[in-house]
Amino acid sequence: MGIIKAKKLGFEYVKYDDNGNVQEGSHAIESVDLDIKEGQFIAVLGHNGSGKSTLAKHMNALLLPTEGTLWVDGTSTAEEEDLWKIRQKAGMVFQNPDNQIIGTVVEEDVGFGPENMGVATDDIWKRVDDSLAKVGMISYRHHSPNKLSGGQKQRVAIAGVMAMHPRCIILDEPTAMLDPNGRKEVLHAVRELNEKENVTVILITHYMEEVVYADKVYVMDQGQIVMKGTPREIFSQVETLKKYRLDVPQVTLLAHELKLAGAEIPEGILTIEELVNAICQ
Ligand SMILES: Nc1ncnc2c1ncn2[C@@H]1O[C@H](COP(=O)(O)OP(=O)(O)OP(=O)(O)O)[C@@H](O)[C@H]1O
Ligand SMILES: [Mg+2]
Repeated sequence: MGIIKAKKLGFEYVKYDDNGNVQEGSHAIESVDLDIKEGQFIAVLGHNGSGKSTLAKHMNALLLPTEGTLWVDGTSTAEEEDLWKIRQKAGMVFQNPDNQIIGTVVEEDVGFGPENMGVATDDIWKRVDDSLAKVGMISYRHHSPNKLSGGQKQRVAIAGVMAMHPRCIILDEPTAMLDPNGRKEVLHAVRELNEKENVTVILITHYMEEVVYADKVYVMDQGQIVMKGTPREIFSQVETLKKYRLDVPQVTLLAHELKLAGAEIPEGILTIEELVNAICQ
């Protein structure tokens, strides 16, 4: 069984009318099946309101299914009494690093998770060192998080999750509030964790350029997973993506337009190098 598995997962937010009576809501996610293997890098795309965050919150039991089941490392989130165990295995990183950093010194902040888990003091410091090194922030350990750039803050937040030794890390638009440089730093850190530490990564993003590195891309629309494939398979379908109100990476779009104009270029070009090679052939 995969590290994250879902079967017919559905979720409905309960809505109340003015008199406090429960209203019939619509499904934020519906019939979602997943089987994410350990060590994979999954990117999740979808237009606003398509259900990405709702799905992500199921992966560390911030929300519990109203239909179907979601398992983290074989344990159903609905049955597990100790939610902390699930949240330790599947850590979550959100959009705004300011809401995730609570310590006044970087190293304290990163140590907070393992401390809460009851990890022994010596081991906490080792974990703090390791995780800060992994995201390239070890030299900032004594700094105040307030004075860091957005990208640096977000890397500290990721180190905080890593210090809990998760098997899986779910990032919900971690770069949305960052400048291009911060986005690059964070994406680099996330890729390193995936490649070197074999951490399963689930990255929700609106930046198509960040999707290119994923093993698999899931596209969501109206609460369902409507497309699944490698980045190349997904981005070969420019017209289908348009239907789901999604873009493709700029270079992919350029290649697509050139092809429509009669150039002999394959679909699903993902990088500038690939386009250059295709044109020069
Ligand atoms: N707390 C809530 N109460 C009621 N409805 C909600 C709540 N949160 C989200 N929804 C609804 O559930 C659906 C899915 O929302 P969700 O936040 O999961 O989408 P998303 O894909 O993450 O969107 P975005 O790209 O804007 O972050 C939307 O229709 C949204 O309006
Ligand atoms: Mg969202």
